[in-house]
Amino acid sequence: MNGRGEAAIVEGGVSRSLRHESARLHVTGGATYIDDIPAPANLLHVAPGLSMRAHARVVSLDLEAVRAFPGVVRVITAQDVPGDNQISPVHAGDEPLLAEGEVFYYGQLLFAVVAETRYAARRAARLAKVEYEDLPAILTLEEARNGAGELVGKSFLMSRGDAPEAVRAAPHTLSGRVVVGGQEQFYLEGQAAYALPGEEGEMRVFSSTQHPTETQHMVAHVLGLPANLVTVEVRRMGGGFGGKETQANAFACLAALAASLTGRPARLRLDRDDDMTITGKRHDFAIDYTVGFDNDGMVHGVDMVLAARCGWSADLSGPVTDRALFHADNAYYYPAVRLRSEPFRTNTQSNTAFRGFGGPQGIAAAERIMDEIAFATGLDPLDVRLRNTYDTASRNITPYHMTVEDAIAREVMEQLANDCDYRTRRDAARRFNRDSQTIRRGIALTPVKFGIAFTATHFNQAGALVHVYTDGSVQVNHGGTEMGQGLHTKMVQIAMREFGLREDRVRITATTTGKVPNTSATAASSGADLNGMAVLDAIRQIKFRLVSFAAGHWNVPEESVVFLPEGVRVGSALVSFTALVKAAYMARIQLSASGFYKTPKISWDAQTGRGRPFLYFAYGAACAEVSVDLLTGENRIERVDILHDAGQSLNPALDIGQVEGGFVQGAGWLTMEELVWDASGRLRTHAPSTYKIPACSDRPAIFNVRLLEQAPNREETIFRSKAVGEPPFVHGLAVLHALSDALASIDDYRSCPKLDAPATPEQILRTAERLKSRAAG
Ligand code: MTE
Ligand code: MOS
Repeated sequence: MNGRGEAAIVEGGVSRSLRHESARLHVTGGATYIDDIPAPANLLHVAPGLSMRAHARVVSLDLEAVRAFPGVVRVITAQDVPGDNQISPVHAGDEPLLAEGEVFYYGQLLFAVVAETRYAARRAARLAKVEYEDLPAILTLEEARNGAGELVGKSFLMSRGDAPEAVRAAPHTLSGRVVVGGQEQFYLEGQAAYALPGEEGEMRVFSSTQHPTETQHMVAHVLGLPANLVTVEVRRMGGGFGGKETQANAFACLAALAASLTGRPARLRLDRDDDMTITGKRHDFAIDYTVGFDNDGMVHGVDMVLAARCGWSADLSGPVTDRALFHADNAYYYPAVRLRSEPFRTNTQSNTAFRGFGGPQGIAAAERIMDEIAFATGLDPLDVRLRNTYDTASRNITPYHMTVEDAIAREVMEQLANDCDYRTRRDAARRFNRDSQTIRRGIALTPVKFGIAFTATHFNQAGALVHVYTDGSVQVNHGGTEMGQGLHTKMVQIAMREFGLREDRVRITATTTGKVPNTSATAASSGADLNGMAVLDAIRQIKFRLVSFAAGHWNVPEESVVFLPEGVRVGSALVSFTALVKAAYMARIQLSASGFYKTPKISWDAQTGRGRPFLYFAYGAACAEVSVDLLTGENRIERVDILHDAGQSLNPALDIGQVEGGFVQGAGWLTMEELVWDASGRLRTHAPSTYKIPACSDRPAIFNVRLLEQAPNREETIFRSKAVGEPPFVHGLAVLHALSDALASIDDYRSCPKLDAPATPEQILRTAERLKSRAAG
């Protein structure tokens, strides 16, 4: 590992396992999160007051006791909003910042308390006397589907060929439903914001947001200000995972409102229980599928309806459910296909982005279909999967009519199956199960193909701002945000490589709307793809000027000016970077540049459901082996092998970290994380005491993660790398299918266990009982 201050390990930067730029700060407590920013003497604290009904008219809101509580400075309701009380990120007009006369879920923001201490604000918030008149509430997907459910957006239809006819004409047909649960983002740093009022309405907001530009616009909108008075800044988040793509906005707005109304700085940091009660999560889905196939396990046609619980407002549910459709093929070619989304509005938290953005839910359906076909034909599920993968010759058109040019899923799966001895171990597991009553083993190998780019084409742009100072140190700024994924480290590496500088000469600064404007959310795994190219563009402009200056100044050809770790070669001489920069400055050469990038080739027409929404696909495969206790449902992940495609990795250590973390988070989603609401619509799993995320002890006992070697991106991405943030999340599916394989032993592998997620011990027991009675009957 390269250490800050260690010399002689500079060369490249890119493709090396440079450690995370904040690693030391993370583990020593030196990293500044929003709540760590030193407090000014007159700082105020904000706490939210929440709706305690799932759907109701607010008959009266008595805030006398709240106002009277010692230390309370101000109480804010919808009426106090100077601008527009609307924060719908898609401008659906269905998301008031503070409720106006009607509440739509248990936990909705009703008012906010501003007080001298955080304690006073939180205590006072509980003293409101609210009179409600209950209205009918729709809580679950089932209720929405069976009755009065309305959609939060348009149902989207994607089709190619005549799917119903292909299904009908196929030798075999089967139908089923796969249910996958939601998931709490569980970022370690909760939602937080700090607002600092300035002169003439200026507002500076520090926000734990993945989308500073949108936060800036929301704050401006709510305060009734032009965007040029609002600056939003974030150095890092303690995790985002999609949960801060839109849902950081409300808290930034509340802090800014408090600051604006009182003229004092104001901070808001959500308590964990409030955070989980208020904010949206991964969408749970129920997907009905019909598939036609033949004796060889080949798919002829697929027809699916993907219903999702979206919560009370649109938020990003449109694009999330769209992405579920975009991934309902995973790595498989469907000769004829019809996919339809049903994004249902419900009286629950407004579900939002979460790593994979609906993609994993769509992929879960594809994998269930593969399993169904395997059990129906008696083939090894891996063979069914391998046979149905895309190839580049002819079976290469997606349901959205994009050609898959690099279909490598089959190769990756075969390589992994060989490397980890899948076939031998599958036989061994089956032998083991014959002799074991209580403990059963299961193994599965699943692929991922994940489309990279925002499906809304205009989001695929980015900016950067790079300064070279006259002492030869470099400051890099770009529009992406750091949430632990290592984006900033990769950006530093690009500057190191291009200028030939050591890590300690390059400084990355907080993301701020004042330096790089009009940015997209750091999301869709495209942070490094987009911002890396923008940073490179800025650096190359500066280098271009430096090279032409050096060539003229030292009278050498431009080609002979080369940036190297030992300095800048100028003809036969070696000049230090600092000396070159100083000389350039004296000659009045501009040493700063702003860069820009827009992703080429992509287009998407939502009207026709055709186009090339993705620049490329990221691939991978995972093989999981588990053991299950049939008496208790307890289970263990014994071994996991992952082969993942990060292209020509910008930083193998960080990318392997993303693969490991993504896998564990995906496995957690599918096996142990369970959201439970009671009949009143109150989320009962609102803290780690009741909501179980994976612990260290839940990681696989044997865990082998490798990146695909010699696999540069065929597209011209930043140094031929591939996005890596979300795709590995999908590898968790190998665990669900391994659990299913273990359960299938109960009736001697005669029927597909149809194990739904989360496959908690309870769910495993229910499925085991179902299979036992089937085996007996
Ligand atoms: N890794 C860490 N440590 N923390 C996070 O919050 N978010 C994930 C992924 N990996 C996340 C993470 C999500 S949802 C996305 S979209 C990407 O990182 C965003 O960053 P990138 O585009 O730079 O990969
Ligand atoms: Mo990630 S769900 O795109 O923030």
